[in-house]
Amino acid sequence: SEMKKRTSSIDISSLTDNAIKVLGRRYLKRDRDGNALETPSQMFKRVADTIAAADRIFNDQADTAGLSDQFYRMMTALEFLPNSPTLMNAGRELGQLSACFVLPVGDSMEDIFDAVKFTALIHKSGGGTGFSFSRLRPANDVVLTTTGISSGPISFMRVFDVATETIKQGGTRRGANMGILRVDHPDIMNFIMCKADKHQLNNFNISVGLTEVFMAAVEADQDYDLVNPRDGQVIGTLNARKVFDRIVAQAWENGEPGIVFLDRLNRDNPTPHIGVIESTNPCGEQPLLPYESCNLGSINLGKMVINGEVNWKRLRDVVNLAVHFLDNVVEINQYPLPIIAEMTFGNRKIGLGVMGWADMLIQLGIPYNSDRALELAEEVMKFINTEGHDASHALAKKRGPFPNFKESLYDKQGKAPIRNATVTTIAPTGTISIIANASSGVEPLFAVSYIRQVMDNDILLEINPFFEAMAKERGFYSKELMRKIAERGTIRDLDEVPQDIQAVFVTAHDISPEVHIGMQAAFQKYTDNAVSKTVNFAHTATIDDVAKVFRLAYQLDCKGVTIYRDGSRDNQVLSTGKER
Ligand code: CDP
Repeated sequence: SEMKKRTSSIDISSLTDNAIKVLGRRYLKRDRDGNALETPSQMFKRVADTIAAADRIFNDQADTAGLSDQFYRMMTALEFLPNSPTLMNAGRELGQLSACFVLPVGDSMEDIFDAVKFTALIHKSGGGTGFSFSRLRPANDVVLTTTGISSGPISFMRVFDVATETIKQGGTRRGANMGILRVDHPDIMNFIMCKADKHQLNNFNISVGLTEVFMAAVEADQDYDLVNPRDGQVIGTLNARKVFDRIVAQAWENGEPGIVFLDRLNRDNPTPHIGVIESTNPCGEQPLLPYESCNLGSINLGKMVINGEVNWKRLRDVVNLAVHFLDNVVEINQYPLPIIAEMTFGNRKIGLGVMGWADMLIQLGIPYNSDRALELAEEVMKFINTEGHDASHALAKKRGPFPNFKESLYDKQGKAPIRNATVTTIAPTGTISIIANASSGVEPLFAVSYIRQVMDNDILLEINPFFEAMAKERGFYSKELMRKIAERGTIRDLDEVPQDIQAVFVTAHDISPEVHIGMQAAFQKYTDNAVSKTVNFAHTATIDDVAKVFRLAYQLDCKGVTIYRDGSRDNQVLSTGKER
């Protein structure tokens, strides 16, 4: 608790050089020559004014200036940030504010190339797209109109990949895609291997859609059916354990495919009367119906600590404001297609989550890999989820429930009308965490100091601000030591760093994969949508280690798993100094 007192007094609220650099490159309004036409604080003002103005749609007397002020303060205090497209596009011509979309891909040339076109439109506006390719007939199946043979889902994925490659999202970032194939699709073995060649499908994350039937067959070591989606005919069987092992081996080899538990996504689908969930957004945290979009926002938990305790009061206020903010985003968003507007207005899904979880733990003096951290994770997320739902119920009283409320799960369970079909989602916060100078999402610190590669090829060197401040306070700071740590990638067993600090500044690779999954499960328990989390493995981890974690994720009721074994991919988003 000595530690507790010391860390909680550290306050970092102004923008860092890295944040200013990222904002300047991609977020601020610029003229044709690339000169910034606004400052970061003008950007936050633009966003706050635009989002607050939506209140007038419901009440022409609304105090939008007062509300804008509250939004502005919450963003500039780095307590809450919306997903990147909202920061970039609110109050500007493009006006497209969502990060997440799912598009259907039907089994015809027209449908496939419509989806390619829609993808281009979404990427151009800064959004990411997820697809299930499960409806496409398998490779070498019959094509009646031409009496030829079909190319199959994987060849068509390449078309989406090439289209993505050529379009930079809104001129700001490279498009991201999620590709999902059901495990009972006849082409599943080729799909599992489709990124084995590391030069293929680089604009896709891929995940195998696992079903309960499949998981039961894995457990019982049985065969399961492969179904041709064209006519629903069973055209063969595979041994479930062999397929599971293949997925695991490939994930061990290069981090992909991930897995996603499709039946769980649909168990928690709040509007089954509107459609079936077959895919998530690119990073996996947001399951959506075909043509649905969702906007995300994240509370910076690192700012929710006061006097060595969680600042529940401010957290409650920020949750309320954030839900209001995100519902306004749904209202004024300029959707890339009429059908996307229609689907999104029907459910009004929002995804409020967190970043800075590791920063919160550090300030509380709690090691990430401790039972106390798991307990607090549930406590904090339960609080956010409950308060968030309450805020959405309150909005429903003023603005009405989401239009598909009738016959939704809420309705059937006799719950009060709610404004948003989902309220909570935990995003990776890849870029907004840089702006907030926060640890990403619910991840542990990646390293105490490291090199971060963002948005194509920008390279940023970062030292954890809490660590730097602590090292200075405790008198062990030196430039040489910081450099040494950057090269080593961990402070574990480093004599210069006191033991209690080694315990609290624990990094991703010092934490066992079981703890990574345990933390994901703790947050998932109180999250409507899903949790973005990468389970880090040491380079020396075995295939069996990966298999255990996949099984554990299933047992702990996670919605999916993404793993990464150190050094298994050439182009890592985050890397410690020692790898360069
Ligand atoms: O931090 P930021 O708001 O930029 O995004 P994130 O939390 O890292 O990612 C949230 C979602 O944004 C992802 O799941 C994707 O749907 C989308 N995204 C994208 O389309 N393209 C990227 N380069 C990064 C994220």
